[in-house]
Amino acid sequence: MLLGVNIDHIATLRNARGGLEPNLIQAALICEKAGADGITVHLREDRRHTKDNDVIELKKVLKTRLNLEMALTDEMQKIALAVKPECVCLVPENRQEVTTEGGLEVASRLEFVKDFVKPLVEAGIVVSLFIDADKEQVEAAAKTGAQFIELHTGKYSEAWGTPEEELEMNNLKKGAALAHRLGLKVNAGHGLTYENVRRMHEIPELIELNIGHNIIARAVFDGLEKAVIDMKDLIK
Ligand code: PXP
Repeated sequence: MLLGVNIDHIATLRNARGGLEPNLIQAALICEKAGADGITVHLREDRRHTKDNDVIELKKVLKTRLNLEMALTDEMQKIALAVKPECVCLVPENRQEVTTEGGLEVASRLEFVKDFVKPLVEAGIVVSLFIDADKEQVEAAAKTGAQFIELHTGKYSEAWGTPEEELEMNNLKKGAALAHRLGLKVNAGHGLTYENVRRMHEIPELIELNIGHNIIARAVFDGLEKAVIDMKDLIK
């Protein structure tokens, strides 16, 4: 299975001081060096973490793939067509949310999604729809022209270790199998951790997992001790 690393949290930390550190490009290159198969950033309407110039610069330097998560707006479509990331993942966006909450609603607005996807695919961009593992949404996604879906694993992640885990796991399995039968390629992501990720191997259709928060959270603790030691050395 492939790994796409979402580095939005690096941008959040950088923006907290308004400067350049931690450098987003450097973070992306470290992820690639460590074996990431792609780098994901979400360019939000409010630009709360990744900025337009980050997307432009990442596209220039990445050796793997840039996966641009974005909402279905004219502004984002223009940016994607200008920057031409290798992949675009279409997500719902709500200004108030802390992170992407639910999957994209495709079934009730199939024509709109289809029209949105078309120019992106024609420009050579691989398009993925971030949807819940719901029969209606998967069937609709297969009619949009998008090549991939990314199954929202948020409910599974929240249910992990509870009696609902099995139900959510089964939903993901059924969703992935249906998507595959309908000719879609299948990725998954959201809320995955070093613990709950193991069960993703039970879904044979999965090609790539997109993981952000838990990797960046672990990176802080893996690096904190050395960071303090280095500063102590400098000031002693
Ligand atoms: N996939 C999509 C479409 C997302 O919006 C996000 C969160 O930005 C992720 C994957 C990664 O989720 P997490 O940060 O919880 O690993």
